[in-house]
Amino acid sequence: MRVKAIFMLAISAIVIGKSANAATQTSPAPAAPALQQWKNATLDPDARADLLIKVMTLQEKQALVFGYFSTDQPSLHYIRPNGGMVDAAGFIEDNPRLGIPVQSLTDAGLGVASQPGLGPRLRTALPSGLATAATWNREVALAGGAMIGNEARLSGFNIMLAGGANLMRDPRDGRTFEYAGEDPLLAGTIVGHVIEGIQSNHIISTLKHFAFHDQQTDRFTIDVKINDASGRQSDLLALQLANEIGRPGAVMCAYNRVNGAYACENEWLLNQVLKADWGFRGYVMSDWGATHSTIPAANAGLDQQMGYPLDRSPYFSDALVEAVENGWVKPSRLDDMVHRILRTMFSAGLFEKPVSDQSATIDYIDHAAISRADAEEAIVLLKNDADILPIARSVGSILVVGGHADVGVISGGGSSQVYPLGGPKNGMITANEGPAEFPGPTVYFPSSPIAALRQRTKATINYVDGKNIAETVAAAATADLVLVFATQWAAEKIDVSLNLSGHQDALISAVAKCNHKTVVVLETGGPVMMPWLRAVRSVVEAWYPGTSGGVAIARVLTGEVNPSGRLPVSFVASVDQLPRRTMDADTEQSGHPHTDYDIEGAAVGYKWLDKKALTPLFPFGYGLSYTTFAWSGLSAKAVGNGLAVSVMLTNSGAVDGKAVTQVYLAAPASAGWEAPKRLAAFSKTFVRAGESKSVSLTVDPKLLATWDIAAHRWKIVPGDYKLMTGTSAVDLDPPVTVHLDGHTLNALGN
Ligand code: BGC
Repeated sequence: MRVKAIFMLAISAIVIGKSANAATQTSPAPAAPALQQWKNATLDPDARADLLIKVMTLQEKQALVFGYFSTDQPSLHYIRPNGGMVDAAGFIEDNPRLGIPVQSLTDAGLGVASQPGLGPRLRTALPSGLATAATWNREVALAGGAMIGNEARLSGFNIMLAGGANLMRDPRDGRTFEYAGEDPLLAGTIVGHVIEGIQSNHIISTLKHFAFHDQQTDRFTIDVKINDASGRQSDLLALQLANEIGRPGAVMCAYNRVNGAYACENEWLLNQVLKADWGFRGYVMSDWGATHSTIPAANAGLDQQMGYPLDRSPYFSDALVEAVENGWVKPSRLDDMVHRILRTMFSAGLFEKPVSDQSATIDYIDHAAISRADAEEAIVLLKNDADILPIARSVGSILVVGGHADVGVISGGGSSQVYPLGGPKNGMITANEGPAEFPGPTVYFPSSPIAALRQRTKATINYVDGKNIAETVAAAATADLVLVFATQWAAEKIDVSLNLSGHQDALISAVAKCNHKTVVVLETGGPVMMPWLRAVRSVVEAWYPGTSGGVAIARVLTGEVNPSGRLPVSFVASVDQLPRRTMDADTEQSGHPHTDYDIEGAAVGYKWLDKKALTPLFPFGYGLSYTTFAWSGLSAKAVGNGLAVSVMLTNSGAVDGKAVTQVYLAAPASAGWEAPKRLAAFSKTFVRAGESKSVSLTVDPKLLATWDIAAHRWKIVPGDYKLMTGTSAVDLDPPVTVHLDGHTLNALGN
């Protein structure tokens, strides 16, 4: 048997290695069985897993449930295991005796990422997860997933740590950009399609972070309080829908605690909700450093410890073998862990379609176009007074300010960081921006908005970096149009301020004061404050727009693309509108930090604002277009446990464009919903100017229900419900009434 990992850097490293691996070194494995029926791909995955488990030794079983970080960690005297990919997320070696393939894991949801280390692999990046959610387009999400999954496979990875579907409970969460917004239906649907796309490459995708990993402050220790019903109607609903649509092979449990227990040893979350109630048949993998025990974790439903040595101890190594031998963890439970992993590997195709490094064959041109299509549909036009956009042909001179718009577009930091092709120093345009250590550095993708604008307008374009406000104002005074690019860097591990960093707010105000034709292009991870909003003519939210971001921005600004992004999150007017003023956790009562998500419960985002009658800066679902749309003839009828909805959509303006049909539903008071209304269905449709199209949508029964804790079922209350279309969560057409009969449904909504 091959040595699992090499630990040769220092004496202490050898100690770490031995303790992690002793379980695999105790007894030599027997000879390979003559009859290897599990290799018969015509058998079903469960049968194959059963056949294989029968011939596995205890050590071989244990080896499948214990994974290594695949990046050298000099501070821990750790060298990645032999065979592990450089600067990658995770690794479990193959088992040649039984023909079990390697598990080779890469981050994340935006593309093939690299950990800071020996030298990153350079790959295509999608726009941020929040940007993809802003497309409200299932096909775009699917295509993006398929593209990054293809790059993962061709890079030699067969497991992708994608599928971030945590709800934005607080816009200051530094990982907002990785996720898909504040609404369970939108987030679950978009992430589900990304996962489906990834797994179409015969690789496994995770769904993460399970669950309630909604802030970075105290992320390893925070204890989140949330009741069963509110949890299932909010974050868990997003994860449930993503699971139903994407069928991820693995679920990654989160760092935080939930109602006292760590997410990776949380009986309610793992054994009850995920496995029993949802019937999840894949495996639960821990986040890197999120395992805290052997026996409680194994018995509560964790199937695989990942990312050692980022955990304190190799809990699922020797200690697990011992726990099985002395009966604290039943042998049948270890078999279940192994069965789940093997079954998933069989059904995803990991045995029949092995991976190897074929990165030379990646079609980067095609992939850049897929990323660009995503970015173009994600960009949200927030303000456009006097139709200053698209940029008129008569504009003779444009001053572009800041954001490194001369060279590229910003991206978010942390484990999801993709390093771009074609960039100087792997995309690090300026030497000293962002932290040198994780989650830094700040990486820009070399897709220059200015270069793309120059190809699309005859105007003279000048650039100033905006560092000197007086000089910028002087340059702005004489331009026909000013485009200020404002950036906000956000990253895993840190929460962010909602104010733009440095003097960007002051800069925008000063420029807008001297030039009334000022357009602000935001490249932010999530919502920001806009103290200068009234003074500027136009605001464009471009998020982190990915590999082709500069081109996408230029195409929207010049009208080559009609903006069709809609906000997947509310932009609050001030932090006073949020359920919590600060994200600092109270440590007094329990000795460890805790926070109370029952304050808002399932009333997350626009639902909270609606319930509290607060007016945001920009509401959920909002976004302008270069045309106008109208909806008429809304009708609905009960079908099965859900609803079938239809409506006529008309492009009432002069330009072709894509419309997002948003259907909101309000329940009778007796239903006890968390908030006055919910997004119940949505779709995106291309409509030519002057054309009308009929749009059909369905409403998932779970969106009509509340979770009845005592009955352990969804409950739909009989009565008259109000159905509305609209251009945002606050701008709604007059409602139509639909009567629903009352009934209860099981946890799956059946
Ligand atoms: C993140 C995960 C990621 C893992 C592996 C953790 O820090 O929370 O999302 O997949 O690292 O890099």
